[in-house]
Amino acid sequence: MTIPALTDIELLVHGHSCLDVYVKHADTPVNDWQHRIQAMTINGGGMAANAAVAASRLGVSTGFSGRLGIDPFSQFQIDEFHQNGVNTELVVQQDYIPSLFLALNHSDGQSEYSWYHTPHVSKVCDALTCQPSLILLDGESFDVAIALIGTARERNIPVILDACYLSDRRLALIPKVDMVIASHDFVREYMQSEDWHAGLRQLTQHCAKTIITLDNEGCIWHWQGEEGSMGCWPMDCVDGLGAGDAFHGAFCTGLLRRYTFHDNLRFASAAGALCCAREGARAGLPDMPTLTRFMASHPEPNITSI
Ligand SMILES: Nc1ncnc2c1ncn2[C@@H]1O[C@H](COP(=O)(O)OP(=O)(O)O)[C@@H](O)[C@H]1O
Ligand SMILES: [Mg+2]
Repeated sequence: MTIPALTDIELLVHGHSCLDVYVKHADTPVNDWQHRIQAMTINGGGMAANAAVAASRLGVSTGFSGRLGIDPFSQFQIDEFHQNGVNTELVVQQDYIPSLFLALNHSDGQSEYSWYHTPHVSKVCDALTCQPSLILLDGESFDVAIALIGTARERNIPVILDACYLSDRRLALIPKVDMVIASHDFVREYMQSEDWHAGLRQLTQHCAKTIITLDNEGCIWHWQGEEGSMGCWPMDCVDGLGAGDAFHGAFCTGLLRRYTFHDNLRFASAAGALCCAREGARAGLPDMPTLTRFMASHPEPNITSI
């Protein structure tokens, strides 16, 4: 894929990138047992990085900014961004920063995840040497996020926060952004319950445009006074990893292409569903023809006002 010039970027995604190692084995887990690996994939991963790849595959000129190391794992991630047409000129590369996400898929369908993430002090990148029309943040590096939001305000660029996991810093970003897409994991921790609607009410007090994605139960939202819920597209889920990232990347695409809000919800959830059809977070991220075909050949989920 062609990599857009920095000046042509429509979407800037800032946040986490790591190396995903996805391992599948046939045994049920027992202690002190060696598992024979049946299948293994190694891909770039990370919330923001996956969303950037998702948007780029859907035809959006996308740039990724975040911190990577000077090591072979980081180079692997940069190469994969480039193969997917994502501009990486705003990536800051420092030292040796191994960031690893290990997914173990057992024969009983259960998955286990382990990750190693080097704590770091973020460096403010010179991210707004470009003029994007939209910015997506995963709240990974607070000081960079704050700097980006400040510049975005001055330039009238809308900012979306992917509230993936709860942290005080991510919470502090919510009132500062224009839109929030929160995961069920975030809301569960935030509310200490699975009362998604109470979570939505709570988040909406801080941001008037909020969506909560609920895995195979679809999503709920409050969007400038309108509240609703939608189920999901039919899909035999092989692996749900990355569905939220697919949703975010596609939702940004729909915003940039000026889809109506409801059309965009259907579009983004179809991307989430397709991501679940393949193992790992990246393999199922669709291009536009695949996504359009899928939507045309499957019954669309109903939207209900709440
Ligand atoms: N099993 C599934 N079948 C169909 N669509 C799904 C499935 N899992 C997720 N999706 C779609 O992807 C969206 C985001 O997925 P979700 O699982 O909520 O994100 P996360 O990656 O944070 O767990 C959901 O709102 C839904 O539309
Ligand atoms: Mg999920």
